Amino acid sequence: MNILAGQASQLLAGRVSRELESNLLVSEFKRFPDGELYTRILDDFDDSGEVTIIQSTVNDSDFVMLLQLIDACRDASRINVVIPYMGYARQDKAFKSGEPVSARAMAGAIKADNVYTVNIHEESILDYFDAKAVNLDATPLVGSYIRNMEFRNPLIVAPDKSAISFARSASENLGIDYDFLEKTRLSGESVTIKPKNIDVKGRDVIIIDDLISTGGTMAEAISLLREQGAHEVFVACIHPVLSNNAVLKLFKAGVKGIIATDTIDKGVGVVSVAPVIASVL
Ligand code: R5P
Repeated sequence: MNILAGQASQLLAGRVSRELESNLLVSEFKRFPDGELYTRILDDFDDSGEVTIIQSTVNDSDFVMLLQLIDACRDASRINVVIPYMGYARQDKAFKSGEPVSARAMAGAIKADNVYTVNIHEESILDYFDAKAVNLDATPLVGSYIRNMEFRNPLIVAPDKSAISFARSASENLGIDYDFLEKTRLSGESVTIKPKNIDVKGRDVIIIDDLISTGGTMAEAISLLREQGAHEVFVACIHPVLSNNAVLKLFKAGVKGIIATDTIDKGVGVVSVAPVIASVL
């Protein structure tokens, strides 16, 4: 098995390759003076002829590079594509008239024998790939990491209703209670946001979501929970997109720690999803 890393996923590809003891291919990545991307695989494929390309598509350039790498592997006997974090997945439908279904546009361009994603934002996107597409769940790995931490009377909290299933799965895995933040309108001008059922006073809280992007959702939740007497507040996610000043917002809000995976190569990736990817290859 050959493992080919896109520029965005070098660390994770290296870890997967180490798990599988496979042939890690080195490529060169550069830009032409006009800004176009150039990539070239420098190493030889092993005799298997099978290649697994690993590339998260955090931004447009990552996506273009993935298409280039797939084309560069055109002579391989089998091409697997792993997209640990798939960008554009939040535009999984046309919310307003005139909008594209961006996730469908991206998926339709990826030609491979097998596609693997990790905790994709919406599983229905898998149907947009021509290839057989499988979504892998890294929640148990994050759960194991959390299990080994020390907390005071911990509580898992989903920052909104859309993250409840995610929080529930982590809660079941860990045997820790969970709740979600609910907005209640008190009057035309005033709303309260607090955990629906459980008092957080004196408890450590782990807020869990599939991804943190601008950090706005998490920062608001951290501030609220601290105001309501939570002891320490941690945030956990699969995909640390952490765009712009998100990390600063989290610290300003009083976060105690950030727990994330290496689907996106950021300093906060304390949990590797390499085992879950290696297990399907
Ligand atoms: C929403 O659907 C996601 O699960 C996250 O809650 C959201 O994308 C987080 O975005 P931000 O960090 O920009 O608030």
